[in-house]
Amino acid sequence: MSHYYTEDPSSPLKTRTIEVCIRGHCFKFITASGVFSFGKLDRGTELLLKSMVLERGWRVLDLGCGYGVIGIVASRFVSYVVMTDINRRAVSIARKNLKINNVRNAEVRWGNLYEPVENEKFDAIITNPPVHAGKDVLREIVINAPQHLNDGGMLQLVIKTSQGARYIKSLMEEKFTEVMELAKGSGYRVYAGIA
Ligand SMILES: C[S@@+](CC[C@H](N)C(=O)[O-])C[C@H]1O[C@@H](n2cnc3c(N)ncnc32)[C@H](O)[C@@H]1O
Repeated sequence: MSHYYTEDPSSPLKTRTIEVCIRGHCFKFITASGVFSFGKLDRGTELLLKSMVLERGWRVLDLGCGYGVIGIVASRFVSYVVMTDINRRAVSIARKNLKINNVRNAEVRWGNLYEPVENEKFDAIITNPPVHAGKDVLREIVINAPQHLNDGGMLQLVIKTSQGARYIKSLMEEKFTEVMELAKGSGYRVYAGIA
């Protein structure tokens, strides 16, 4: 069995298109087997989409973009979005989703964690992190975030309360000047760390 965070899912490709209306805009998303949250919007992602802080003029990184919902929603409110994922099928589907939503101020790059954005800085890194990839991956995402953030930039992430929220929050408190809880609900928490 292949997981959504593998590089090349081996499952036969099945797709299903969904509509998501959020923050005053409606979007169409192709979702795919072998890519996180096939056929639906994940509940944690939904909480993050509703509560994420976005400002005009910002450059945003959507780390682990899956089919691209976070980056594509963010693109309506900020200046530019870079979306990345290690799953090649996710990258290909997210690129299609940019097209069908007429998004011109975003791009999708393939690669591991921050490798596709080496030496680049953002005003926000926004992620529903790959919890099933293990604690080390979560740790890498948090501890390396500040070097990819401008001064005052924010790491914004959603995490299941029962799947490491306390661990993530304490890591963020070590690495960021200030950590806030932006939202909680449906068993998830959204945290923001200010660099
Ligand atoms: C929980 S899913 C979130 C997907 C999407 N952002 C959403 O909210 O629907 C985490 C994503 O991280 C990706 N991922 C896992 N390990 C990764 C790594 N080492 N580098 C980059 N992306 C990774 C997975 O392929 C998956 O798409």
